[in-house]
Amino acid sequence: MCGIFGYLNYRVPRTRKEIFLTLIKGLQRLEYRGYDSAGIAVDGPGKDQTADIRLFKKKGKVKALDEEIYKSDSIDLNAELDTHFGIAHTRWATHGEPSAVNSHPQRSDKNNEFVVIHNGIITNYKELKKYLVSKGYEFESDTDTEVIPKLTKYLYDNRESDYVSFSTLVERVIKQLEGAFALVFKSVHFPGEAVATRRGSPLLIGVRCQYELSTEQIPVQYNRGDSRKDELQEKNFRNRVGSTNALHSVHDRMAVEFYFASDASAIIEHTNKVIYLEDDDVAVVMEGKLYVHRIKPKAGEDPVRAIQTLQIELQQIMKGKFKAFMQKEIFEQPESVFNTMRGRICFESNKVLLGGLSDHLKEIKRCRRLIMIGCGTSYHAGLATRQILEELTELPVMVELASDFLDRITPVFRDDVCFFISQSGETADTLMALRYCKQRGALTVGITNTVGSSICRETDCGVHINAGPEVGVASTKAYTSQFVSLIMFGLIMSEDRLSLQSRRLEIINGLQKLPELIKEVLALDDKIKGITEELHHQRSLLVMGRGYNYATCLEGALKIKEITYMHSEGIMAGELKHGPLALIDKHMPVIMIMMRDACYNKCQNALQQVTARQGRPIILCCQDDPEISTMAYKTIELPQTVDCLQGILSVIPLQLVSFHLAVLRGYDVDFPRNLAKSVTVE
Ligand code: AGP
Repeated sequence: MCGIFGYLNYRVPRTRKEIFLTLIKGLQRLEYRGYDSAGIAVDGPGKDQTADIRLFKKKGKVKALDEEIYKSDSIDLNAELDTHFGIAHTRWATHGEPSAVNSHPQRSDKNNEFVVIHNGIITNYKELKKYLVSKGYEFESDTDTEVIPKLTKYLYDNRESDYVSFSTLVERVIKQLEGAFALVFKSVHFPGEAVATRRGSPLLIGVRCQYELSTEQIPVQYNRGDSRKDELQEKNFRNRVGSTNALHSVHDRMAVEFYFASDASAIIEHTNKVIYLEDDDVAVVMEGKLYVHRIKPKAGEDPVRAIQTLQIELQQIMKGKFKAFMQKEIFEQPESVFNTMRGRICFESNKVLLGGLSDHLKEIKRCRRLIMIGCGTSYHAGLATRQILEELTELPVMVELASDFLDRITPVFRDDVCFFISQSGETADTLMALRYCKQRGALTVGITNTVGSSICRETDCGVHINAGPEVGVASTKAYTSQFVSLIMFGLIMSEDRLSLQSRRLEIINGLQKLPELIKEVLALDDKIKGITEELHHQRSLLVMGRGYNYATCLEGALKIKEITYMHSEGIMAGELKHGPLALIDKHMPVIMIMMRDACYNKCQNALQQVTARQGRPIILCCQDDPEISTMAYKTIELPQTVDCLQGILSVIPLQLVSFHLAVLRGYDVDFPRNLAKSVTVE
């Protein structure tokens, strides 16, 4: 998905080369989100005492953009700039093919008077474009974004008085926009100034200065409008020295740097002090001070934006000794799963505590139904835990794909509790479903991995899965941590049920041993790699299982298709004879999951059906299972755990299978084609 990065240095002299390095580095940190082109806007040397903006845009990797910049001899890289604002963007095509002209920054005109970077989609762009074309504006790209800088210029050219502030212009622009956006603006008319705003797409601003920022808060400014009077007030406001409405008010003329980004991974190496913008905030940096404007207050909203301290470390998002982030993240699972349980399960007293749910537990226990909502892997985590949640909560549990849930206009009631499962916390479909359920009065619970994300902030309560940053587009450790979080929720719901105590104890003991068992599974890596060497030329790979392991099949198949581009399908073994059996012959590669649980005998039937048609399945089974080894072409033997936890162990070989297949087929494991890490468009 698209990525935004901006860097403003105020009274911090930087050569243009250093500025480019910072912008390129910012883009590299966002590469994991997935993209197909990239671009940068910086100040040029200017002519006739006026500012000018230079654009560098390129289809393909950030590396190619970087090379392009150094090819240009029209710009002095050694020139030192005391104050400067540069913006940069990675684009993932939604409107218009990947190309330099469609990449961002998009511009208002050939002189680059206003340039904009955008994440999200403008749904009314056709109407706006038609209007602007009728006013003589010429469009050069196929993007929805291009209407934004053009509309900004139109409003600037048609301003009522000589002076209009940059933030007022942007407020006027966003009033006309429909859809979702995070935007950062730069203009030759406002040199050294930055304006950023959002609606439905995340945006944060990092601040680095000479003194220790701790609990500063930025008061939000309201009631600024379009009238001339407001513009005069704005002018006075701009001239006021030491205003109490800005960050750094008491540190006038202080050197400061600001970083704008769509996620924290691009900011963390510069500063851990950030503010998260809210929908419809317009943040402006003028003369080194940061202000946050809003058109009008909403009932009950927070009148300040607090500086928050990011907890992630840069090395947490670096690859270390591994070939790919995905591989690193697969191997992190003994720790990530442990971190999910840390401080929440006391294995001495067998007590489970989820602080984020405590205040709402009574209400949750009184509910009539649980609805688990997510997309992709996060949806599979809901599916994987449905059976045990039904058993432990004695409630009906629905598991829903967010997009389908919305398409069906599913009935939701006040006594429903709706869970929103999302690694990123920003997935547009899941976020829309959350807003839909909130409107209908249901209690909303977030299961997320990203503190401060939209889903985190908009749910009534939630559980942070604590898996650590997940960079690989293919989700791995987030899945197992979501799984464990939902199991812990089930344990809390059943703490008072006498009849369930021995089951709870069995699960808690199983959870305690889980990190060690995951290590045992990871030790099978070489064997798994060997098996993939026989499979990587195949076009298709079926994954079969049932019961607790049906979700594992779907998740394994998703991993395989996502990064190896092979056709792969997760098949419910009970459905085999209703259709998929027709696919089976001696050439069709099949992986079967047959663990020692209540479905074992039924899985054996499926195995018979496959082998009777000369199928030669690779079987994931429990260690030392004599009944299996004779029938399998190959086995991957896993340690046995409690039935409802087995899916955490059985998914790992499939994660490794997909990783090795992708490497053998020569694909970029972390950045699969056509996919993005965080899907912030519907
Ligand atoms: C899984 O490997 C995916 N890349 C994808 O299915 C992902 O799980 C889905 O887009 C949901 O993302 P979220 O967990 O960040 O909401």
